[in-house]
Amino acid sequence: MISHVIEHKSTATGAMEQKHEVSAAFPVSDSGGGDDDAEAVRRPAGGPESSRASRGWWDRNADEYQRDHGDFLGDDRFVWGPEGLDEAEARLLGPAGALRGADVLEIGAGAAQCSRWLAAQGARPVALDLAHRQLQHALRIGGGPDAPEGFPLVEADARALPFADAVFDIACSSYGAIPFVADPERVFAEVRRVLRPGGRWVFSLTHPLRWALADEPGPEGLTVLASYFDRTPYVEEDAAGRTVYVEHHRTLGDRVRELVGAGFRLLDLVEPEWPEWNRQVWGGWSPLRGQLVPGTAVFVCERA
Ligand SMILES: C[S@@+](CC[C@H](N)C(=O)[O-])C[C@H]1O[C@@H](n2cnc3c(N)ncnc32)[C@H](O)[C@@H]1O
Repeated sequence: MISHVIEHKSTATGAMEQKHEVSAAFPVSDSGGGDDDAEAVRRPAGGPESSRASRGWWDRNADEYQRDHGDFLGDDRFVWGPEGLDEAEARLLGPAGALRGADVLEIGAGAAQCSRWLAAQGARPVALDLAHRQLQHALRIGGGPDAPEGFPLVEADARALPFADAVFDIACSSYGAIPFVADPERVFAEVRRVLRPGGRWVFSLTHPLRWALADEPGPEGLTVLASYFDRTPYVEEDAAGRTVYVEHHRTLGDRVRELVGAGFRLLDLVEPEWPEWNRQVWGGWSPLRGQLVPGTAVFVCERA
């Protein structure tokens, strides 16, 4: 879910003026946490650099993210993306009964809305995120470690999970760390390590096809502006040249190969269709585009 622009600047109202747009995916135009002078480029960005940038960006932008999207996400719903696909209906983590008593790791949990839903189903979630401020929102909403039905909140990088081997039955991530890491194969290896044999790994991200299109909710967002095959990261730099935001692209085939290479079986690849009831615009996601091209990909895997 990011805007790929070669050059942009924020207006006083926070709206982005974009120039030379090259492709799309997290709504940078939703930012407002102090990266207004950032400039966007496509260039390499490594693992530590990407994690550092993500921690800073999500710390600075967590308040705005939760303010803008908290209602749609719901305090205790499990939504897979802007289309509104709800785990209560989709059951991608397995049948309802399978959640009761299951140890579940949520990666890139944000304010832990999904973990709250999981706890209500009788699961034992652990909500992990890189950004301190996102986890503070989890505490603000409640259901964290101090609540009667509470669950742990863990501040850590998905690239180095601070857990013993084979301690979770399910790992999941709704638009969590995967789009933001330079080395997803490292995250997949970590997820496999902490899962018990046969454990499920389900995660969503911006549909890779969107990287070829302008990140605009209107008709201009239906134009191909960049090669789908260009894996060069989208990077934003501040005026001092520091990396303040990074997002990484892989093709659908790349993702399948990374998952199989890390020791997973792919059970399903869900491309949620835009439902009639959903009239929201979230960055580049909109009813117009959603009804024509996929906006989210959900990978449903099992530890082989
Ligand atoms: C788009 S938000 C999604 C949050 C939540 N799942 C939701 O649906 O609202 C992405 C989250 O991934 C987290 N994140 C980014 N890179 C990460 C990493 N390397 N390890 C752990 N979390 C990361 C960010 O801090 C942010 O909270």
